[in-house]
Amino acid sequence: MPEDNLPTPSATDATPHVRRKRYSGKNPRRFEEKYKEHGSDAATLAKVIASGKTPAGTHRPIMVPEILAVLAPQPGEIAADCTLGYGGHTQELLARLAPGGRLVGLDTDPIELPKTVERLRALGFGEAVFTAHRTNYAGLPQVLSGLGIEGADMILADLGISSMQIDDPTRGFSVKMDGPLDMRMNPQRGVPASVLLQKTKTDALATMLELNADEPNAVKLSLTLAEQHYATTRQLAEAIRATLPYLGKEDADLTVRRVFQALRIAVNDEFSALDMFLRNLPFCLKPGGRVAILTFHSGEDRRVKKAFDAGYYDGTYSDIAKSVGRPTPEEQHSNPRSAPAKLRWAVRAKA
Ligand SMILES: C[S@@+](CC[C@H](N)C(=O)[O-])C[C@H]1O[C@@H](n2cnc3c(N)ncnc32)[C@H](O)[C@@H]1O
Repeated sequence: MPEDNLPTPSATDATPHVRRKRYSGKNPRRFEEKYKEHGSDAATLAKVIASGKTPAGTHRPIMVPEILAVLAPQPGEIAADCTLGYGGHTQELLARLAPGGRLVGLDTDPIELPKTVERLRALGFGEAVFTAHRTNYAGLPQVLSGLGIEGADMILADLGISSMQIDDPTRGFSVKMDGPLDMRMNPQRGVPASVLLQKTKTDALATMLELNADEPNAVKLSLTLAEQHYATTRQLAEAIRATLPYLGKEDADLTVRRVFQALRIAVNDEFSALDMFLRNLPFCLKPGGRVAILTFHSGEDRRVKKAFDAGYYDGTYSDIAKSVGRPTPEEQHSNPRSAPAKLRWAVRAKA
């Protein structure tokens, strides 16, 4: 399968070439203009991908061969993809579960989920083989039991946010493009980051920055940022830079990213969801069932490692990853967003 499941141009492709969309400059700058790439012809999409970028409105699945090797999907088996996103991993799994298998997809994002379902349906994956559930993966046991599934043969979780979410400035995740300081994966629940920050006291903010992003300047930043109202992502980024004016550009950029990450984790209560998911996991897997988890920062990886180690020593898991898996240098080069990814896996004991 081509990466990102996007059609690859071929010499025999009968589709006439459509000219690349025209923008005011050399490249599309605004998200709405970039988003046009989504409906573009295969040659345009291939060009965007070859330049190391992700076409707007899409997501490139990470470590696909490694995940398929770990999950080893077979015809007739049952899979749960707890972080459906664009459906890139799901599409690969579904192709290998046929005939007779099925996949249960979960995602908390009410904006992207319907688009993904439509895309997968258009690829021919009907209700009998693929169902989608807009819910937090902490509730996986309830979803499975609601479908009459006692245990899955394989479970995948690809943590964090999708490229569609990061690249859409209206979602408020972007450090590069200005937008409302929101950061909710499900904008129908909880409070936006702007409100959370305004409600968070200095000590609590310092702890949040340390625990969620290992931020070395947590105390200094919390003295400036706590209980302040920043309406937009740019306002917050500027306030972070102004607090630490002596940092070079690279360190300042990294600091902005870490503060955004810490806030995003808090806004979406990501660690509570992950902890509950890890506790529930063994009960959601059949004996011999496999689980693969992709993490993107140390706070996530530490939790997964600890849960798998504990499960291995108490006999819940018969095997676990001995070391962490990383994307190949080629994948990191072709898709820089894959660079921080870490893969861990476990196998549920048979007895
Ligand atoms: C990195 S993306 C997954 C991309 C996907 N593997 C693909 O190939 O397209 C992570 C997705 O998980 C979802 N997500 C994050 N935390 C979640 C949670 N606690 N429950 C359910 N979905 C969650 C996000 O909304 C996002 O769509």
